[in-house]
Amino acid sequence: MMQAVLFDLDGVITDTAKYHYQAWKNLGETLGITIDEQFNEQLKGISRMDSLIRILEYGGQSIDQWTQDQLDALAEKKNNDYRQLIQKITPEELLPGIHELLMDLQVKGIKIALASASKNGPFILKRLKIDAFFDTVVDPSKLKKGKPDPEIFLTAAAQLGADPKACVGIEDSVAGIESICAAGMFAVGVGVPEQVGANFRVASTTELTVEAIRTHFNAK
Ligand code: BG6
Ligand code: MG
Repeated sequence: MMQAVLFDLDGVITDTAKYHYQAWKNLGETLGITIDEQFNEQLKGISRMDSLIRILEYGGQSIDQWTQDQLDALAEKKNNDYRQLIQKITPEELLPGIHELLMDLQVKGIKIALASASKNGPFILKRLKIDAFFDTVVDPSKLKKGKPDPEIFLTAAAQLGADPKACVGIEDSVAGIESICAAGMFAVGVGVPEQVGANFRVASTTELTVEAIRTHFNAK
């Protein structure tokens, strides 16, 4: 039986993935590193500091040339830029079908969790006016390992008291789908390529209904 649905945030609930990309692109320019959308795919689901390290490596810069304080300052600069972009997010920026899905899950007594790597998650849920739907939110600052490690999804299930095998995770990133699969959960992929290995793939969040998810979950 499907007990819980664990949501990624950026790119699943709302299109903040484009703001992360914009803010990293801006930071990259100040460092003389040009990032494009293709490279950005590798940053989806990845923590702020790990994303910064990937960008510096991509730009051919040795991490050793930076002190931890300098790296922290660069990550903070990106976050300040990102915070400007998300400051005025409204419920209109929920991706299509997400509000209906949250309402239907709640009506059917299926637990709802947020399993996002973003430390800005709680702020965004409030801006979108959907925070009350969530039975629990994982605090990414308390995790030892980021996606694709299963820790974040297993923590979400533990916080809900749910059996991982009875949980569904929804993700738009490669690292996120790998994390859900490694947790032994049913993986729903939004706009992810076939080879990533999601159990149920949709092209758009409009296809994310409780019935469609449950039908695929039960068929597995
Ligand atoms: C993930 C995003 O949800 O959160 C990543 O996909 C981002 O792009 C990560 O780096 C961390 O977010 P934040 O808001 O804590 O910098
Ligand atoms: Mg995402």
